[in-house]
Amino acid sequence: MERLRTGVRGFDELIEGGIPRGFFVAVVGEPGTGKTVFCIHYAATGLREGDRVIYVTTEESRESIIRQAMQFNFNFKSFIEKNRLVIIDALMRGRDDEWNLLELDVDELLKKVIEAKKHMGYGRTRLVVDSMSAFWLDKPVVARKVSYHVKRVLYKWDMTALLVSQYAVTSDMAYGFGLEHVADGIIRFKKIVIKGRLHRFVLVEKMRQTNHDLRAYEIEIKPGVGMAILNPSEYRIEDVRTPQEVSRRIREVKEKSRRELTGEPEWSSE
Ligand SMILES: Nc1ncnc2c1ncn2[C@@H]1O[C@H](COP(=O)(O)OP(=O)(O)O)[C@@H](O)[C@H]1O
Ligand SMILES: [Mg+2]
Repeated sequence: MERLRTGVRGFDELIEGGIPRGFFVAVVGEPGTGKTVFCIHYAATGLREGDRVIYVTTEESRESIIRQAMQFNFNFKSFIEKNRLVIIDALMRGRDDEWNLLELDVDELLKKVIEAKKHMGYGRTRLVVDSMSAFWLDKPVVARKVSYHVKRVLYKWDMTALLVSQYAVTSDMAYGFGLEHVADGIIRFKKIVIKGRLHRFVLVEKMRQTNHDLRAYEIEIKPGVGMAILNPSEYRIEDVRTPQEVSRRIREVKEKSRRELTGEPEWSSE
């Protein structure tokens, strides 16, 4: 099976070498968890390996993506000039530019993506849509239908895609479920504050036809280098959801009230 490397240090080993060609993979997580940085690596690695890349950006402008990539020493501008990369800007709509979306409309998106593919010529192609959530923000119920439509239309165009889904800050849930149901794989990013410091994690929740790693890994993002996978997380998923200190206090209070009820002295439970 042909697999496309993401190029994120330590990540491809978790999925038997890379994402199977033709897959549609959901990249999900709250804001600031590393989804865009991950997609930039995937795009840059494709360019390095001779693939065509179509990068749709809805939350940041094209310039912002180019600048972010440059911070990790990926020169996206030079690949745009060489006709190997098209960045479709869906944020700065209405600007007079061949590769700007006029509306956040999924059929316009598909039209532009196919145009970009034809523009660059044939060959293995990577697609990033960062994010898909933008296309159903005002109507989350259509998320599944829209995702299915996108997959069905693009299926025959030999694309291996990362589709980003934003998770709400408060609920840890997607704005409109749907993408996850249609995806061939799910890469989940998480963040948590432990002892006053932000930690980020990545977990492969699903990758069809792949014996993928089942553990959550801590990740780091460094200037000049970008993302790298560190050690498997020592925290259980419950610990990642509830701060450790909080769960310790809950256990303490439970134990105290149990002792009060049974009349057991404090040292007897040690
Ligand atoms: N040059 C850099 N050096 C170090 N960290 C960076 C750099 N650029 C971005 N980051 C980190 O990446 C984070 C943004 O991650 P991003 O992938 O944009 O999140 P999202 O999941 O919202 O797409 C920033 O908050 C910062 O911690
Ligand atoms: Mg982002």
